[in-house]
Amino acid sequence: MARTYAIRTFGCQMNEHDSERIAGLLEADGLVPVEGDDDTLADVVVLNTCCIRENADNKLYGHLGHLKSLKDRRPDLQIAVAGCLAQKDREAIRERAPHVDVVFGTHNVHRAAELLQQAATTGPVTEILEETVLEDREAFPSALPTRRDVGYAAWVTIQIGCDNKCAFCIVPAVRGPEISRPVDDIVAEVEALAADGVTEVTLLGQNVNSFGRDGAGQPRPLFAPLLRAVGAVEGIRRVRYTSPHPKDLRADTIAAMAETPTVCEHLHLPLQSGSDRVLAAMHRGYTGERYLAKVAAARAAIDDLAVTTDIIVGFPGETDDDFADTLAVAAEARFDGAYTFIYSPRPGTEAAERVDQFVDPAVVSERYERLRVVIDRSAQAAYAERVGRVEEVVVEGPSRTNPDLTTGRTRQNRLVHFTAEPLRAGTLATVEITRAGGHSLRGELREVLAAPRHRTRIPVVAG
Ligand code: 5AD
Ligand code: SF4
Repeated sequence: MARTYAIRTFGCQMNEHDSERIAGLLEADGLVPVEGDDDTLADVVVLNTCCIRENADNKLYGHLGHLKSLKDRRPDLQIAVAGCLAQKDREAIRERAPHVDVVFGTHNVHRAAELLQQAATTGPVTEILEETVLEDREAFPSALPTRRDVGYAAWVTIQIGCDNKCAFCIVPAVRGPEISRPVDDIVAEVEALAADGVTEVTLLGQNVNSFGRDGAGQPRPLFAPLLRAVGAVEGIRRVRYTSPHPKDLRADTIAAMAETPTVCEHLHLPLQSGSDRVLAAMHRGYTGERYLAKVAAARAAIDDLAVTTDIIVGFPGETDDDFADTLAVAAEARFDGAYTFIYSPRPGTEAAERVDQFVDPAVVSERYERLRVVIDRSAQAAYAERVGRVEEVVVEGPSRTNPDLTTGRTRQNRLVHFTAEPLRAGTLATVEITRAGGHSLRGELREVLAAPRHRTRIPVVAG
């Protein structure tokens, strides 16, 4: 019988995509996904980790503790820890959790299967590379075999790493410097995905607007032409991307979004803070006013644009006045939604050193709640505004909470639960919106516009 694997993914879409690669590599090596939802039945468990905020580390060590008792009972169980926290903590992971068989980082995802084999014969291995070897095409996760969970949609890496030095952020330390992928490779990959029936792609990078700027040698266009080229690929109905940096979001990108019908009307533009003083201390390279000007320009050019953001509360030195500026900018931006975070010091980052300026946790949580009120107000107004409209949705499947309903996603990236006969995931349809909740919409099916183009796969759970 084939050995089985399960992958548990923490963190961002980049990690989710890396997990698809790890799954693809393990399957190329003869493993099969474990059946059902129970990871603990697998012969190989991979934890693909994140370290962007502190609770991510806590979660990992919690999981490893749980796996320890399992490994005591089944010594042939192999446990691998991959991803950003592995890159950061290296040997420390095996010191804290000696039952881990393999630790590998963000620059050698392509070695997943070999490292597991090596550990099976010679004992535990830790392999962390300092950087991605440029010539090594395999370094780009998209160049590896993949096992996608969703047939109709795919992530496409356009850039790895980040050259910014935001004072709070650990990403540059664990993902390395920015490297853009050649545009022809990206377009070829999207064409291959479309040929395989994929209709929606999400372009991934830490700072997509600086795409191509690191390029020496070959002529590489910047992000706007890339968006147009990907958007023009036959068969692709929706293009999304994440994340742009406000300082680098330029008029040409906005124009490319406005003029490429397949590019969705959704901009996720991380604000982080509305205070100019805090933004400067974060090294973000823009002011609240400039941020708002970019949002206004995008909304003016792109009809019916949804804007979402990330905001950090309690950055070291944040005063009441600074926070009031964040509230004011957030209110004026009228966000359609926001991920809000409490500042979490990441060892090795600049801001983590400013211990004397850390904000009292009680003050931070009070600010956090006040920010949520402002965000929820504009988000709810934006949802309510959809009622009565007919929206284009792509079906995701039966609703998780009510199997009588079907769940789809609008171009603005909102979830809609609607009444319909069962429809295959990937179906393109129109839905009339009848009600708005805080985080989703309700509606009724109007018309099926197009069937999915991918083959139906037997559903498997990757964890
Ligand atoms: N503390 C809190 N939030 C953080 N983020 C990144 N680093 C930290 C940190 N140290 C948030 C930012 C970023 C999002 C992905 O995570 O808002 O945009
Ligand atoms: Fe981190 Fe800033 Fe780079 Fe985003 S742009 S990954 S927040 S350093």
